[in-house]
Order: sequence, then C-alpha cells, then structure tokens
Amino acid sequence: STETEIRVGNILAGSSGPVPVNGSSDAVPRNGYSGALSQGGKQILPSEKEANSGPALELRTSKEKLSAVLKEKQEKMMASGSSKVMLAFREKLPAYKTKAEFLKAVAINQVVVVSGETGCGKTTQLPQFILEEEIACLRAADCNIICTQPRRISAISVSARIAAERGESIGETVGYQIRLEAKRSAQTRLLFCTTGVLLRQLVQDPNLTGVSHLLVDEIHERGMNEDFLLIILRDLLPRRRDLRLVLMSATINADMFSKYFGNAPTIHIPGFTFPVEEFFLEDVLEKTHYPIVSEFERRQSEQNKDPLTALFEEVDINSHYKKYSKSTRQSLEAWSTTKLDLGLVEAGLEYICRHEIDGAILIFLTGWDDITKLLDKIKGNCLLGNSSKFRVLPLHGSMPTINQREIFERPPSNMRKIVLATNIAESSITIDDVVYVIDCGKAKETSYDALNKLACLLPSWISKASAHQRRGRAGRVQPGVCYRLYPKLVYDAMPQYQLPEILRTPLQELCLQIKSLQLGTVASFLAKALQPPDPLSVQNAIELLKTIGALDDVEELTPLGRHLCTLPVDPNIGKMLLIGSIFQCLDPALTIASALAHRDPFVLPINRKEEADAAKRSFAGDCCSDHIALLKAFESWKDAKRNGRDRAFCWENFLSPVTLQMMDDMRNQFLDLLTNIGFVDKTKSRKEYNHYSDDLEMVSAMLCAGLYPNVVQCKRRGKRTALYTKEVGKVDIHPASVNAVVHLFPLPYMVYSEKVKTTSIYIRDSTNISDYALLLFGGSLLPSKTGEGIEMLGGYLHFSSSKSVLDLIKKLRSELDKLLQRK
Ligand code: CDP
Ligand code: MG
Repeated sequence: STETEIRVGNILAGSSGPVPVNGSSDAVPRNGYSGALSQGGKQILPSEKEANSGPALELRTSKEKLSAVLKEKQEKMMASGSSKVMLAFREKLPAYKTKAEFLKAVAINQVVVVSGETGCGKTTQLPQFILEEEIACLRAADCNIICTQPRRISAISVSARIAAERGESIGETVGYQIRLEAKRSAQTRLLFCTTGVLLRQLVQDPNLTGVSHLLVDEIHERGMNEDFLLIILRDLLPRRRDLRLVLMSATINADMFSKYFGNAPTIHIPGFTFPVEEFFLEDVLEKTHYPIVSEFERRQSEQNKDPLTALFEEVDINSHYKKYSKSTRQSLEAWSTTKLDLGLVEAGLEYICRHEIDGAILIFLTGWDDITKLLDKIKGNCLLGNSSKFRVLPLHGSMPTINQREIFERPPSNMRKIVLATNIAESSITIDDVVYVIDCGKAKETSYDALNKLACLLPSWISKASAHQRRGRAGRVQPGVCYRLYPKLVYDAMPQYQLPEILRTPLQELCLQIKSLQLGTVASFLAKALQPPDPLSVQNAIELLKTIGALDDVEELTPLGRHLCTLPVDPNIGKMLLIGSIFQCLDPALTIASALAHRDPFVLPINRKEEADAAKRSFAGDCCSDHIALLKAFESWKDAKRNGRDRAFCWENFLSPVTLQMMDDMRNQFLDLLTNIGFVDKTKSRKEYNHYSDDLEMVSAMLCAGLYPNVVQCKRRGKRTALYTKEVGKVDIHPASVNAVVHLFPLPYMVYSEKVKTTSIYIRDSTNISDYALLLFGGSLLPSKTGEGIEMLGGYLHFSSSKSVLDLIKKLRSELDKLLQRK
C-alpha cells in the first residue's frame, strides 16, 4: 500500500470494533472514522432520555448547527486558490501519505505513538488531519483538540503556520495559549499550548473534561514537563475512555513510549532528506587553517576536563591523523578546551561565506551568551565585513517571540540568512532553506549532583541522536554540508541518547506541581515515571521546599507554597517576587529575578577583564553585592535608553544589550504574573510598590528571602574573611564577583545565587547581608538545643539573642505569614 510502516498492533483490523491492544483494550472508539466505524462504535451523542427532552434537543440542534457552519466554512476554504497552493505543499510532506492510516489508528486506539524524522510534518499535519476529519464528519461541536509543545515559540509558530495553511487568521479554528498570552476564540477547535499550560489546566480540571484529542509533541526530548505529563495521562486514560492520546516523537526511540502505554501501536513516518556531507574538526582545520592554541583556555579547563575530551588526549594524534597536514595535527593536539571556542565557529562561518555558494547557514551554539557574542560581532561589522549583506537571526527558547517571517522566509537574493540557534532548532523549529550547518557539538545542560546539592547549567557534549538531528537540518531542500567542530573520535564516544531531564535537574518546581495537582506523596508518584529519578534528589527537593517554607512538616502546601505553585518560575525566584511586592521593593525584585531566571547581563571579555571588573564594581558602589551591581546597571541602562545612548552605554560598561532587553521583557512577564495572582494591582501607581526600592538594606533583605538557603557564614580569619557553607565547608568567591577583591566583609552572612564546582567550590553572584535579614526572611527557625537563641539551617547558624528579641522576631514572621494567607 503506502510507505507507512505499522510496527505494533494491527490497526487495520477492520470496522468490527476496537482492536484489543494491551492497556487500551476497552477504549471507546471515537464516533466514526469517515463512516468506517460509525455503526460499530458506541455513539457519543446525547442519550435517548436527553434527546427527548426539550433543552437537550435545542442543545443538540445548536451543536449540529455549529458543526454544519464549520464544515461549510472548511469546504469553502479548501476550494480557494491559496489553499490549493498550500495543499500542494502539504501533500508533498511524508506525513501526508500516512493520513488514512493515522486517522484510522486514532479512531480505534486510545493511544497512538507516531515517530518520524524532523520536518516530515508531524506537528503541522497530524493535529490538522484530526481537525479536518472531525469537521468533515460534522463532529466539530464536540471536538476539542489540544497539542502540547515544550516551548512557547513553537506553540506560536506552529499555530500560525496551520492557520495559514487553512487560509484563516490565527485564533479562529486554530489558536494557541502560552503563559500570559493567548489567541483563541469560541470557534477554536485545535489549540496549541505549552506543556506547562496544560499542566496548570490540570489543576482546575484533573479529567480534562471536554478534551477529545490530546497530542503530546516532542516526547523524544524527554523534557521534565513531558515526562511528568505522561505519568498523569497514564493514570487518567482509564477514567477518560473517550479521550484520544497521540504521542509524537522525532527519533526512533518510540518503542519505549509504546511500552509505557501498554504496547500502544506505533506508526513510523518514513522521511526523506537530501544527503548531507559532513566534516569533522580535522577537516575544518585543514580547510580554514585555524590554529587552536588557546593556552589560556586550555589551562583554565585542565582541572575540569570532561571524559570525552580526556579520551581524545590519550590518542596518538600523529598516527591517527596521518593524512592531515602538520598544522592540523598540532591544532588537534592543542584542542582540549572544554569550553566552546567561538573563534573556531567564526572561522567556519567566514569560510562558508567566502567559499561556498548561497544558502542559509544554521549555527548551533550552546546558549544565549555565545549567540549574543556572535550576533554583536557580525552586526558590528567585525566579522563578515558589511553586515547589511546578511540577515542574522537569533533563535533561542527563552526569546519571548520570534519574527515568524524572517526566520522562515527566504531573504532577498542579495542577502544570506544566518541563524544563530540553540538546540531548539534541532527538532522543534524547521527552517527549510538551511544548506549549511555548523555544529559546535555542545548544548547547555542542567546537571544535578544530589549528594552535594549542586545544580549546574553547563555546556556539555550532545548525544549522537542530537548530532544526527543537527546534521539533518542542512538537507531539507537540497544537498547540504555539516561542519562539526569536534574530532570524529569525540563523536564516536558520544552517548547514544541524552539523559532525560528529570534525572538531571533539581526537582523542587516539579514537587510543587505534584502537590498542587494533589497527586499524593511526591516519592510514590515519581516512582511511576518512565525513568524514575534518584530518591535522594526527590528528598532534597522536598527538604528545600520545607526549608523555604513552601511545604509544611507533613508535605502539605503552605500559603506561600500555594502562591509559588501559580508562578511558573523556580520557587526561590517566585519567593523573591512575592516578598518584593509585599515589601514594596518591587522593581528591584523584578530586575534581579529576571537576571536570575535568564542570565547575567555582564559580559566577560577575556582580554579586558580588569576594565570589565572595574565597570561592574562601579555599579555596586559601597555595597558588597553583585545583585545590586546588576540592579544599578539595569537602571542606568534604562536611563541611557531613554536618552538614546544605550548602545554606547553597553559598550562602555561591558554589558550585553540583547540580554538587558530580554531581562526587560521578562520583567514585564513577571509583573503580569504577579498581577494575575493579585499581588500587584496595575491600576495603582508603580510608586505604591516601590517605597523601599532605593533602600539597599531592604533590597538585601528581599534578596535574602529569595536566595535562602543559599547562605554562607563570613568568619574573620586575621585580615581576611573566610566563607563557610553547611554542605561543603569552605567556599570561595567567584573571580567574576565584585566581592572577589573584598578582604573583610562588614556583615556576618552572605547569600548567593549559585554554587559551582570547578577548581574549587565557588559561589557566584553574592550579597553580604545582616543577621537581621536572615532572622526575618530566612527559612524556618528552630529553637536552639541549648535553649538560648535560635538555630537555622539545621543548627549550622546559631543566633543567641534574648528571649524578647526572639519573641519579637517570631511575631514579625507570623505577621508575614498572615500577609501571604490574606492574598
Ligand atoms: O513536526 P515535524 O518536525 O515532523 O514537521 P513540521 O514542523 O510539521 O514541519 C513540516 C514542514 O512545514 C516543514 O517543511 C517546515 O519547514 C514547514 N513549516 C513552515 O514552513 N513554517 C512553519 N511555521 C512550520 C513548518
Ligand atoms: Mg515537530
């Protein structure tokens, strides 16, 4: 028949009824697949009793009317000229050939797993097939299709694309909903939303009442939200026999998901891509003559070598790379940096622009800072000459919006498109005209060390599956070329798949969600995951939530915890925002939270480090605080922007304009979130929430509330201060901190944003705080074992005060609790 491969379960068993597939055997067939099942399956129409009574009849006729209207509209649309052009495009997609099989599988199975190469049309076509079918069969009134996306920008871009394919505007039958933003209407039958939005929807409606089809996209990425949603859905399916679930995955690992859902049938869409020639680092070096002798970076990274790099160093380069020139072999030998060598990316880019014919270039970088650096360089005409010949576009998951047209459209013939992307362009977003891919081989990956309670977001080597995806991006419309900036030997040693996010991330946000969805104890719930996380990680997360006061002793949500559940940010950042709005230092809270959630706007130029450090210190003034330096830098940037001299300001002060802009957007999002939950009233003047915004002691106290239990004790040792933490003992201040040059700190404690382990354990971005801030805003207070004073952090911090001071502090804290309860 067609090219479709059906691997598990015989979905073509005929129209006699549901196919007994393990785990979904008593699924209620959805009402009729193009007539094939309309007799066999149960009718999902009003029961006889309802049908005879007046109002139900009315309801039925109004539903029928709606269905008829939508059908008529769809038929008209299909007949139009523009829709025919679109249809011609759609029919060429590999997914189109599987349309009949797919619809039939969905009609008779509760769960279907679909896999296929990126770009084959899963996301844009499969939900659309269901939509068209439901409308054509006059079932539109009862049809409510939801398709989840891991990222905001793909939800927007895909719904826009489908609306265009259907010749509609977005928000008619196809819409989207992402955090704080939606385009949908009463007509909307197919809704794209982020996985996070669906999870929050589940809080209100645990049965997903009214949803007829749910498609979960990009499950191969093994994101935490998707893994979490799958546990919930597996429990929900027996209660919602009429709900249809489609799981969509890019790579071949579909069997695992099928097994998880009781051997659900799998449809594989065979894809085609043009051949892509591939070059590894050794070939790139031959071509570009780029010397890698960055001794500085080499020395920096030596202590912290990752296994893949170390493996490469054990190889005898001369015997392995005989056919390459001497300079290439020398460069390979010097190649040992665990950091991304941006110079190498630049050399590759220059090479393509100079020697290769037209065609868009897609560059995979590790994250926002590489993207920004490269973007600033090209736009500043420092790299490829006159930048007006290039359309340079950043593409990053946390960008609030993307410019649809620019990303997907072909640029004018005198311009070359260059997209600087993170791994988001691996599978969620397909840019058709890409001919050249530059793959740095790394991606920022969170990792979590449960024993030391260390969480890091560091660039690390990607998996073979990702490398394969990246290469494939070059062959969408014609044969392409992929430049891999790492040796073949490293590729060979890469793991097949990346570890799922749930196994390498701190779990506190997830735990809060589990609690707010009332899914029982966290540990027993998470044990049901596709790959359950380490019990120690679960325990750490629960402990942290208790420490910051989000959960009580019996693991129930406190008032603070309930507010934190409604804020889709890290609980610590959420707490900072809440405290900032209650204590009227809202603007500083928004600014600092946005930098913590996004990234630091200070750039670190390797050769001008001293000037950069001095600029940062000048923002901090007398405060021993990176957070206040950042706050002041942001405020000065806003002033400079009002005067139209923000570019120069950023250049002079070593700040990234792109990051500052992103922070500004994020601040607005946070403000909307706080408004949504009633902590900010936008009709009131901003001043009302900022009475203490210039009071830096107050701002430090707010920081303490947000960053606790990230606290170290400052102990005087002669002419210096030594820093100690509860978990790991002595720590150092990160060299990039304004506090790195301070010998003696005026106040006895320090809060910090992050602890990182390289040559020693460093605390990044720190603020010196008073004991009062800690007593008032730190986590839970325990009476000291000796009976005098208070203990915090399990006895690590001890405050001896008189009983009256102690009582006063307790009173003040209970007032704060009341404030939270009242909201
Ligand atoms: O989900 P999957 O990776 O299988 O493919 P898709 O996202 O449905 O994309 C199918 C085709 O539609 C690709 O060739 C895309 O380039 C194209 N597309 C587009 O032109 N504009 C969009 N906004 C989304 C997809
Ligand atoms: Mg897709």
